[in-house]
Amino acid sequence: MAAPHCDREGFATKLGVLTATLGSAVGLGNIWKFPYMTGEHGGAAFLLIYILATLLVGLPVMISEILLGRYARSNAISTWRKVARSKAWMLVGASGVVAAFAIMAFYTDVAGWVFNYVIKASMGDLNTTDPAVAEGVFGAMVSNPWSSLAFQWGVLALVSTIIIGGVTKGIEKTTKTLMPILFVMLVVVCIRSLTLPKAGEGLAFLFSPDFSKITGEAVLMALGLAFFKLSIGMGTMMTYGSYFRQDANVPLVATRVMLADLTVSLLAGIAIFPAVFNYGFEAAAGPGLLFMTIPAVFSSMPMGQLFMVVFFVLTAIATIGAMLSLFEVPVAFFTETLKDCSRRKATILVAIGLGLCGVPATLSFGPMADVKIFGLNFFDFYDQLSSNILMPAGGLMICLFAGWLFGQEKVKECLSNNNSLHNGAVISLFLLIVRYVSPLLVLLVMLNGLGLLDLFG
Ligand code: TRP
Repeated sequence: MAAPHCDREGFATKLGVLTATLGSAVGLGNIWKFPYMTGEHGGAAFLLIYILATLLVGLPVMISEILLGRYARSNAISTWRKVARSKAWMLVGASGVVAAFAIMAFYTDVAGWVFNYVIKASMGDLNTTDPAVAEGVFGAMVSNPWSSLAFQWGVLALVSTIIIGGVTKGIEKTTKTLMPILFVMLVVVCIRSLTLPKAGEGLAFLFSPDFSKITGEAVLMALGLAFFKLSIGMGTMMTYGSYFRQDANVPLVATRVMLADLTVSLLAGIAIFPAVFNYGFEAAAGPGLLFMTIPAVFSSMPMGQLFMVVFFVLTAIATIGAMLSLFEVPVAFFTETLKDCSRRKATILVAIGLGLCGVPATLSFGPMADVKIFGLNFFDFYDQLSSNILMPAGGLMICLFAGWLFGQEKVKECLSNNNSLHNGAVISLFLLIVRYVSPLLVLLVMLNGLGLLDLFG
């Protein structure tokens, strides 16, 4: 069984493991999705639930996925063939490939907006603090079908080119060098935002909870966001786990990634919400929030336009890091399952598939706004299908497998790197949570959020 994977490339260094995993986790989920969802669901209470979901479900699922991927050294589907007795588990992998497609279909659209904003920022089209003007610019961009599609396909072409370059070279280098700069930029925006006259209102919104805003749907959204942001529940981390070195400390790497990911999200929140309240934007503005408020913050500072361009360039780069990991799931799968399928061929196939699936998502803000499936436009449908159904369901199965079927002894061996790490207590805690807490929480939240159970009366 080992033969086909002998030549599997891996992450070359310890730091590379951390930065590449982080590169997958940090992306539009932090900078775009987290702030707008927090804004839509009332602020601090949502944030708190999101943090609980990350600790009690997200982190355990992440550790489980990396563990299984590293153990099997294989992609999101054949990992299951190697670790599980029943073939039925491969369905979890298959649902992950579907989820990767659903996510990429709308993610590439939003990434296209970011690239578009790099250009708009350089041309000075975004130098305004007026909500009406900012909304106009954003609205005109997303509703223009041709430019939106052109940007989306451009993004797809760019990511494919990087993927064809290979795992280590392509992913590691891009992410490693640029993440720290994005971090510094975010801190700069935060400082400007915090010194705005009405910054206090934004901070209060973000940090003092009002639990009356919390519904079953909001809790499901928070859980889905935790999955989305950590890139878990669908095989990305499994595929990445297969590239992990044998001496990597999996629980430690996962915890660091989770903390760094959370920090970036909080910085994005601190950058955005003071500006929302200061300039009279709508906290619940939805997907446009980032694109309207960030330009306003920059427009009110010296050399703002230059910084604005840099900010959107770096955000674009972060989204590329995240997209590389999404792509990697179907590409690794096709390369390793289909006969004679080179990485190059697999990548091109996936890119074409995505180019097609992405069209209705992109047109959801224009000509296809009224086309609905289950009451949602395509953009929201892809988003909710992946975040609220496929990923939590995948996460549930991953927890059940790692906690109950894989074998506690094997878990201990894998997570302690054959007893070379002395992390027995950490492993026991992990097992406790992954066996009893996470699966139950996911199940309850899903049933409740989908209206099949009524927990809040
Ligand atoms: N986590 C990334 C973000 O926050 C998005 C992402 C990358 C992702 N790979 C994933 C989401 C796999 C879910 C599954 O932007």
